[in-house]
Amino acid sequence: RQIFLNGSYINESEAKISVMDRGFLFGDAIYEVTAVLDGHLIDNDLHLARFARSLSELGISLPMALENVREMQIELIRRNQMRDGTVYLQVSRGVAERNFHPAGDLVPTFVAFTQPAKLSGTPAQREGIAVALMHDPRWERRDIKTVMLLGQVLAKMSAKSGGFNDVWLHQDGFITEGASSTAFIVTHDGRIVTRGNSQVTLPGCTRRAVLTLAERRGLIFDERPFTIAEAEGAAEAFLTSASSFVTPVVRIGETVIGQGEPGPVTRHLQEIYLEAAR
Ligand code: PDD
Repeated sequence: RQIFLNGSYINESEAKISVMDRGFLFGDAIYEVTAVLDGHLIDNDLHLARFARSLSELGISLPMALENVREMQIELIRRNQMRDGTVYLQVSRGVAERNFHPAGDLVPTFVAFTQPAKLSGTPAQREGIAVALMHDPRWERRDIKTVMLLGQVLAKMSAKSGGFNDVWLHQDGFITEGASSTAFIVTHDGRIVTRGNSQVTLPGCTRRAVLTLAERRGLIFDERPFTIAEAEGAAEAFLTSASSFVTPVVRIGETVIGQGEPGPVTRHLQEIYLEAAR
């Protein structure tokens, strides 16, 4: 596999980063994940905009113009002949002697790679998944897509060992989001509900794309926090992300949602999202 590293395309075995990289030592780095379907980048303008925003929140300058990042993503897909999967981007503040205070003149480390995966028509999307419920253990700036993912890693490990496919996180009785996805419910009167964007969650690009499509189709949605109890009593539940598109959630903790199978609104959103992506 070819990797993009600081301006060059090289073989994975040659792609090396210093142990003094601040991404490795401090988690001082941001990342982005874009889906690729049939060789095409999905919702990539939204991902590149969030990529630039995450960097700006950390005070790291853009390693290259966004248009060149897009060209690089396309080139990487071409070199690795990937049809379906994801393109991962990561930028760290750079390499320096370990010191909490970063020197002002660091050169960011920019890495990108492709990961082939089947993203549509998966068993999870067809049948729905069970999510565990856990207290959200993360810091207070979850709107920045940083590589500090230990909270999510531990939550997912614990969910898996409990027999769940994934996990939804909560705080003060409200669902924040999935460990790597945006959480949605559908009320019994057919309203789509997802939390509004704030520092409490990552502003999902798939979320944005789904809400835009829903609006165009005249579907009604509310951007507001919802409680654990409301989620458990919902007609339908689903999650969205670049790597899972629209995935039905049919069980939350021990509570079966609706009829225990993907509901009509979720099915409809799955279809219109795929149609727009294609
Ligand atoms: N994760 N919330 C969190 C915490 C996430 O990590 C993600 C995505 C999302 C959904 O965002 P989007 O629709 O833009 O993918 C929400 C990616 C897929 C990952 O970490 O691999």
